Amino acid sequence: MCGIIGYSGPLEAKKILLDGLSQLEYRGYDSAGIALFDTLSNIRLIKRTGKVAALRQACAKEQDSSHCGIGHTRWATHGGVTDANAHPHRAGRVTLIHNGIIENYHNLTNEFGLEGKLVSQTDSEVAACLLDQFYRGNPLEAIKELTLHIEGSYAFCVLFDDRPGEIYGIRKVSPLVAAYTRSGALIASDLTALIPYTRKYFVVPEGHVAKLTGYKISLYDMEGTPVSPEIMEVNWNMDSAMKNGFPHFMLKEIHEQPQALKNTILPRMSKGLPDFTDDNIPDELFCQCTKIHMIACGTAMHAGMVARALMEPVLHIPVTVSIASEFRYEDPLVDQDTLAVIISQSGETIDTLAALRLAKSRGSRTLAIVNVKGSTIARESDFVLYTHAGPEIAVASTKAYSVQLAALYMITCRMALVRKNFTKDQAAAFLSGLLDAIPAMETMIARKEEEKHLVTHLINQSDAFFIGRGLDYAFSLEGALKLKEISYIHAEAYAAGELKHGTIALIAPKVPVIAIATQEHVFLKTISNVREVKARGAFVILLTKEHAQVDSSLADIHIRIPDMDDRFTVFPIAVILQLMAYYASIGKNLDVDQPRNLAKSVTVE
Ligand code: AGP
Repeated sequence: MCGIIGYSGPLEAKKILLDGLSQLEYRGYDSAGIALFDTLSNIRLIKRTGKVAALRQACAKEQDSSHCGIGHTRWATHGGVTDANAHPHRAGRVTLIHNGIIENYHNLTNEFGLEGKLVSQTDSEVAACLLDQFYRGNPLEAIKELTLHIEGSYAFCVLFDDRPGEIYGIRKVSPLVAAYTRSGALIASDLTALIPYTRKYFVVPEGHVAKLTGYKISLYDMEGTPVSPEIMEVNWNMDSAMKNGFPHFMLKEIHEQPQALKNTILPRMSKGLPDFTDDNIPDELFCQCTKIHMIACGTAMHAGMVARALMEPVLHIPVTVSIASEFRYEDPLVDQDTLAVIISQSGETIDTLAALRLAKSRGSRTLAIVNVKGSTIARESDFVLYTHAGPEIAVASTKAYSVQLAALYMITCRMALVRKNFTKDQAAAFLSGLLDAIPAMETMIARKEEEKHLVTHLINQSDAFFIGRGLDYAFSLEGALKLKEISYIHAEAYAAGELKHGTIALIAPKVPVIAIATQEHVFLKTISNVREVKARGAFVILLTKEHAQVDSSLADIHIRIPDMDDRFTVFPIAVILQLMAYYASIGKNLDVDQPRNLAKSVTVE
């Protein structure tokens, strides 16, 4: 939920920190700050509420004379959005930035008599105060003592007054990556801040301290023993993390979906069948389980809902989808016969990570579908199926959703093949249908101007309803979330047949109802539900396949996707729903890529 960065090296630290924070801003943008060692080895602190641009302006008059410093962009958890609560935090000889949550910070405040000494309302300042109390000249020892007292999640970067040019990083759950490059030593929350300088990096292992100086990075375990980092290679380039001429990352990422699907599907096809050999995912993983339990949050959970509706009629085994933040506090019915499928774009969502750990503790074998290579969820799962969407910068997930679905569809196909639910020909036909979804997406992207006009009927409304049956209902969940999170219009997804059991009371003249009717076996039933809302004055936006027979008086706007196998309509439908939300947000002059109150990776509970 926050972005952190540290630099030590021969170049001007202020510029590197500010540029890095701009790259990390999608992780949180309530406030930002930097701390720099100046030429006299004093630490200067500059921090402001607002986005990195406000901090950049505040730093403009700062003379450029520092070669070591840390920076932070915040998504508020403890304490409001104020300059005092912005990071970095100083306490005595310690300057610290933090991503995560110290769950026992109240107890620590009392235990160490910090009441009345704190200038902020944050848990992070408590950590800085403790570290200062523990610091007797040896950073590693002080950091170790701190980790013995605090509970929760953290990624810290720390400066000590008497150690100019040095930065110390330590993490638990929250992410930290680091690299020594020709430009110097860098550490950050994720690769988007390192990419301009290097393609080689390492993940700071939990319970290890990274020490950065201007000439190297050292890694130590908690006993102070040097450890060699596991060097990894970045699998995308800087352009992927830039807008490249698009007005917003979200529109760019919507356009990238066809290529992202190709990158995710094609390398895993062999003789027209799904093949996970290179992913080291054995068929016995799919043969042995008697049930599937998918666990995720937000859009990733909606991908699971689509997969559930697809999988059960094919595999004839129970498929459950759980919201990770619920799953982790239930007594879930998962065991050694359960295949737990963990879905996460970032691979760092703390609720999903906790759910993964719970499923593993119950004996389930775990398969993660993750977009970020080397992320915590990827590393802790038994098996990983990486999606290859490239970095997704817009807070509203688009291409990650469609590649998660592509991965889930391929898993369904491979499972059906090895469990003899599909013959080879049926599996090949299924995979061919999945590939046909790609040109269908391109068609809808090419017709995006149609969407721009329809949102005029949405943007002045306070509510909107998305309805559908079967797979169409699963699609509608994501449509409602997209519209809500970037246009701030309250939107609700409803099983079309359920509407009349109460919620139809909310349908009044001009209330927008987006009806998805691509599933032929329930098409007429859905159309009946559309008539019910139309009879009550709803403004109906109907999404069907090309040759669906509908009387013209039924829908106020009718959008048709190319004719295709019902099972794959989610892909062009997703494009329509994403563009609908995008243009609604634009129409309301909102910040599409960084909506209020949100952040890209939810690494706090
Ligand atoms: C989707 O538009 C949101 N950004 C959010 O719901 C997101 O899908 C959710 O936080 C899960 O994130 P993850 O896939 O990185 O775990």
